[in-house]
Amino acid sequence: MTAYLDYNATAPIRPEARDAMVAALSQPGNASSVHAPGRRARRLVEEARAKVAALAGVEPAWVTFTSGGTEANNLALGGLASQRKLVSAGEHDSVLQAVPEGQRIALTPDGLVDLEALSAALAAALEGSLVSVMLANNETGVIQPLEAVVALAREAGAWVHCDAVQAAGKIPLDMAALGVDLMTLSAHKLGGPPGVGALLARPELPLQPLQRGGGQERWRRAGTENLPGIAGFGAAAEVALRDLPAIAALAELRDRFEAEAKIIAPGLKIFGASVARLPNTSCVAVAGLPAETQLMALDLAGVAVSSGAACSSGKVQPSHVLTAMGASAQEAASAIRVSLGWNSSAEDVDRLLAAWGDLYRRSQAA
Ligand SMILES: Cc1ncc(COP(=O)(O)O)c(C=O)c1O
Repeated sequence: MTAYLDYNATAPIRPEARDAMVAALSQPGNASSVHAPGRRARRLVEEARAKVAALAGVEPAWVTFTSGGTEANNLALGGLASQRKLVSAGEHDSVLQAVPEGQRIALTPDGLVDLEALSAALAAALEGSLVSVMLANNETGVIQPLEAVVALAREAGAWVHCDAVQAAGKIPLDMAALGVDLMTLSAHKLGGPPGVGALLARPELPLQPLQRGGGQERWRRAGTENLPGIAGFGAAAEVALRDLPAIAALAELRDRFEAEAKIIAPGLKIFGASVARLPNTSCVAVAGLPAETQLMALDLAGVAVSSGAACSSGKVQPSHVLTAMGASAQEAASAIRVSLGWNSSAEDVDRLLAAWGDLYRRSQAA
């Protein structure tokens, strides 16, 4: 059995989500139909909406289901008629590519959005701009200072979008307390199916749909609802909320991995080690030991981790996140990401450490 330690790429589906999907697949109705099967389908969609809303501490009416985090990010950034878009340099590609014209806000060496740079950019921006800063980074797990970002944006009359795809189900989420206007979630990062996500926003926000057609999702996202996907998302969100303490406890395993890896390789660099991070994520590098070599050796030993951004596994350029944190090309090229989740065990970490230690010692002997 593989020791799967790549939850930030995608989490294995939770049994509760699979069961909810199977049940929904047997449900014939279209949620827009007025007959009884249609009303049953509608009920499933609305039950899931309430569960997803509860995960983020918002009203169900704030939830617009989408085809995933990528679509929700595109809707957030493209659906508001904002004057100027300011996005942190560490955002996921689905934010960066959605606004190629957007102004990039630098990261500090710890991986935090540079608040002074954001403040200066906001001072030069017009009222009605849009700031997009993720809650937690997919590569390093670094948690961003969203309260400070919102305070600066409010002073400048700007809206705030927060990509919470990696934070949801790993740390408590309270969208209202954070004060952001828009928030992105994705089901497959928290044990739901891929291909379904949500954009959360107050109903009165002037958000225009990007995808035109029917009036589904209160005119914010046209298209027949993906009933099995949405049902699976709802079930996963419910369990993820319940299991937050268990995910928080993964920090102990993560810390053990980092402490023992540092004994094996004293030169190990741990990205974002001195700031708040997700409990499940570790991004480490030993300069001169290429990530691809590590990935292959670990794969042969039955351990799955990743290098660079999860959604772009296979891409050869150094990670834009690590580069924005000031990592050298060599460091970035040797960084691997270990990400734990709901089904991870101490044995998985033991296997990782044994295989990684072997490889490291072989590389030193060569
Ligand atoms: C931070 C972040 N945002 C957005 C996405 C895209 O989500 P999806 O895969 O649902 O399109 C990802 C996927 O890796 C992500 O890590």
